[in-house]
Amino acid sequence: MPQTILIVDDEVRMLDLLASVVEALGYRAVTASGGVAALEQIERDGIDLVLTDLRMPGLTGRDLLLAVRKLDATLPVVIMTAYSSLRDAVELIREGAFDYINKPIEQDELATTLANALRLNDALRDNERLRQELGGRYESGGLVGGSPAFQRIVRAVGEVAEQRTTVLITGESGTGKEIVARAIHANSPRRGRPFVAVNCAAIPEALLESEFFGHIKGSFTGALANRVGRFAQAEGGTLFLDEVGDMPLALQAKILRVLQERSYEPVGATTPRATDVRIIAATNRDLNARVAEGTFREDLYYRLAVFPIHLPPLRERAEDIPLFLDRFVEQLAPTLGKRGIRFSADAVARLAGYRWPGNIRELQNCVERSLISAHGAVIEADDLPSYISTAPAAPPATAGFPTDLDAEVAEYERRRIVEALRQAGGVQVRAAELLGINERSLWHRLKKFGITVSRAVGVDG
Ligand SMILES: Nc1ncnc2c1ncn2[C@@H]1O[C@H](COP(=O)(O)OP(=O)(O)OP(=O)(O)O)[C@@H](O)[C@H]1O
Ligand SMILES: [Mg+2]
Repeated sequence: MPQTILIVDDEVRMLDLLASVVEALGYRAVTASGGVAALEQIERDGIDLVLTDLRMPGLTGRDLLLAVRKLDATLPVVIMTAYSSLRDAVELIREGAFDYINKPIEQDELATTLANALRLNDALRDNERLRQELGGRYESGGLVGGSPAFQRIVRAVGEVAEQRTTVLITGESGTGKEIVARAIHANSPRRGRPFVAVNCAAIPEALLESEFFGHIKGSFTGALANRVGRFAQAEGGTLFLDEVGDMPLALQAKILRVLQERSYEPVGATTPRATDVRIIAATNRDLNARVAEGTFREDLYYRLAVFPIHLPPLRERAEDIPLFLDRFVEQLAPTLGKRGIRFSADAVARLAGYRWPGNIRELQNCVERSLISAHGAVIEADDLPSYISTAPAAPPATAGFPTDLDAEVAEYERRRIVEALRQAGGVQVRAAELLGINERSLWHRLKKFGITVSRAVGVDG
């Protein structure tokens, strides 16, 4: 039976036209001339996809999208817009639209978008089943941490893993970007397929294209045999674009095309190759600043930042430090022949107060060094590497007195709201959920603190 597409537009001529195009593509078309009628159709009829105009009197396309998301978590919505404001479009995708297409509608583009959306929809429904079978339990992927910041990260990993959504992980060096990317893959339906990591900063520019897309034997001097690119290696799995902020502009354009068209051409090939790869990108750079200075494409940034995860530096989640110490001692002590060794309470306090510019990796190295040079069964504060014992301590988390309690509480509140918005990728309903407040109350607080959602999630340039 053909799949059913609900077309929503306030212009009757447009509805007829689109219906005939959709039917020519082999689908069943049903139409509604407004948002309310559309919702009735969705409740009544077995609809597989909603294709809606954005600007309509009464319920707009966006209102319809939000209403659909409440009714059905997986029903794909594709939005048609005459105004190709990238920012609006990204906002719509954040709010759960599968994709958007610009008017006037081109038949080829419509065909590809509909096919992709319907395919994804099948996959999502499968995932939902799988998740229910697994009882909603997630693999921790060996991640350590107990702080609220860490719990938010784990929650984000769990939420996004199921989907094919592109994820952008940001954070200072050594904060765990790669291990988080691996955790997403390990919890995704792709876990049985490859996780391929590419360091975009480490490949000579001339080789980048063939590295990613492969090449055909003889396509250039030195191409002595066919070469399998990273996309092909990652087929069905996840491609981790590490240090994405350092990717040269020419390659950025190519990667953007793959994200949009889900196909690419190996160097020297004449026909595009379809690809099913999930992209996770990571960077320790400020991509907004790179966009502003013109070294990173804005459109690629929007495509990547659909689901941003920010990893806070270790010094901002110092309560996790003792947990890391336990984990690293447990891992390293046996291999170094130092079983049963531990840090004294003083040493732990000293470590918890250090600033850790190299974050978790630096902590790991420090534990290793301390274990190697330890003599007794207990590592004292004085046995720590000297750069730690002499470094000025990070400012204590609780400031001294006198204090302005109201201002402090307000500042804390503001920070948590911004964090929640970030974690929720700017989706206010979700941010409110994370904060345990209702949407109205979130809205009041946004106004009170003058928080702009786009700025909070960092897409505001
Ligand atoms: N939550 C965690 N639990 C356990 N180990 C962690 C955690 N986060 C990071 N690590 C460990 O810390 C080290 C650094 O992590 P990772 O390589 O993922 O960081 P990164 O952000 O990719 O760093 P860089 O920017 O330098 O590439 C790794 O050895 C990783 O296993
Ligand atoms: Mg890394």
